[in-house]
Amino acid sequence: MASFFVAMVALAMLATAINGQPLVPHFYDKVCPAALPAIKKVVEEAVAAEPRMGASLLRLHFHDCFVNGCDGSILLDDTPFFTGEKNAAPNANSVRGFDVIDRIKVAVDAACKGNVVSCADVVAVAARDSIVALGGPSYEVPLGRRDARAASQAAANNSIPAPTFDLGRLVSNFAEHGLTAQDLVVLSGAHTLGFSRCTNFRDRLYNETATLDASLAAQLRARCPRADGDGDDNLAPLDPTPARFDGGYYASLLRSGGVLHSDHQLLAGPTEGLVRLYGADHEAFRRDFAVAMVRMGSLSPLTGISGEIRANCRKVNY
Ligand code: HEM
Ligand SMILES: *[C@@H]1O[C@H](CO)[C@@H](O)[C@H](O)[C@H]1NC(C)=O
Ligand SMILES: *[C@@H]1O[C@H](CO)[C@@H](O)[C@H](O)[C@H]1NC(C)=O
Repeated sequence: MASFFVAMVALAMLATAINGQPLVPHFYDKVCPAALPAIKKVVEEAVAAEPRMGASLLRLHFHDCFVNGCDGSILLDDTPFFTGEKNAAPNANSVRGFDVIDRIKVAVDAACKGNVVSCADVVAVAARDSIVALGGPSYEVPLGRRDARAASQAAANNSIPAPTFDLGRLVSNFAEHGLTAQDLVVLSGAHTLGFSRCTNFRDRLYNETATLDASLAAQLRARCPRADGDGDDNLAPLDPTPARFDGGYYASLLRSGGVLHSDHQLLAGPTEGLVRLYGADHEAFRRDFAVAMVRMGSLSPLTGISGEIRANCRKVNY
């Protein structure tokens, strides 16, 4: 009996070594203290050249984490023998920032004199540095994620919430990822940054006009002609200040200015109270957003000796 327990304990320890190490903020401090400054420098240059890139890098982390965890799977290119996540419905012609991730990886490998920082960690840190570069809250990013050797287009199609979702489906989608309705409201605040294509909100302009501010509706209709397919890729900002991480998103929701159906849905139930709270208290938004980013960034990481540290973020090592 005693030896049975010894064996069980040994097994549990082995399982922890394989995949179960906690992520920790100081993971690279000894092996490469230059890693985080190298990431920050490239992010700052990219955001200075194009502020929207900060929004795009933030969204890249979200779309990585919501598909089998934060494992860099979204970065894998399709090949004739392999279908990845880049061309899944929520990502195709939409997710951006892959070239910046490549530049960061080159810079960080040079700073570390070797391949020691995973692509999944690069994405997580780049998201934080983007938020900070655009005026948002800073937070320590727990590190030690490893990179997946596989990706799933089907999982990307099924796991990322769609802008057509009603509140109930948004809440249940987040719950499937172990996140709460409060996480939904506060993380949707990421839409204080960046842009959407007309194809994702056209219904709101022509079919849901009752819940959309009239002057915003007129502006957006001018950008997005009615006919499907005409101007699908034209862009509109998700809040009035798309290059500034501020409370404008919630203020805008409360004026019926939510651009996406899913944004407006946050007012359609008990989550409305939180929208009002964050609209009124920007400090609460900044604080809770940082906490929720750490939670989102910790979804099912590969750790220990699971996965690998990719040399090229676009393909598995061999
Ligand atoms: C709650 C469910 C969510 C839905 C339905 C949703 C949907 C969308 C859609 C449709 C777009 C426009 C994409 C395009 O037209 O190409 C977008 C943009 C964006 N989303 Fe979300 N999103 C959600 C949550 C989040 C979360 C949790 C984050 C990050 C924490 C996030 C960050 C962003 C950012 C920063 C942009 C702008 C990207 C850019 O300009 O490149 N979103 N989202
Ligand atoms: C994912 O969605 C896209 C676009 O709707 C579709 O073309 C593709 O076949 C889907 N992939 C899988 C594996 O279901
Ligand atoms: C609006 O609703 C109608 C009827 O339900 C539908 O035919 C149309 O495709 C919808 N979308 C737009 C953009 O008009």
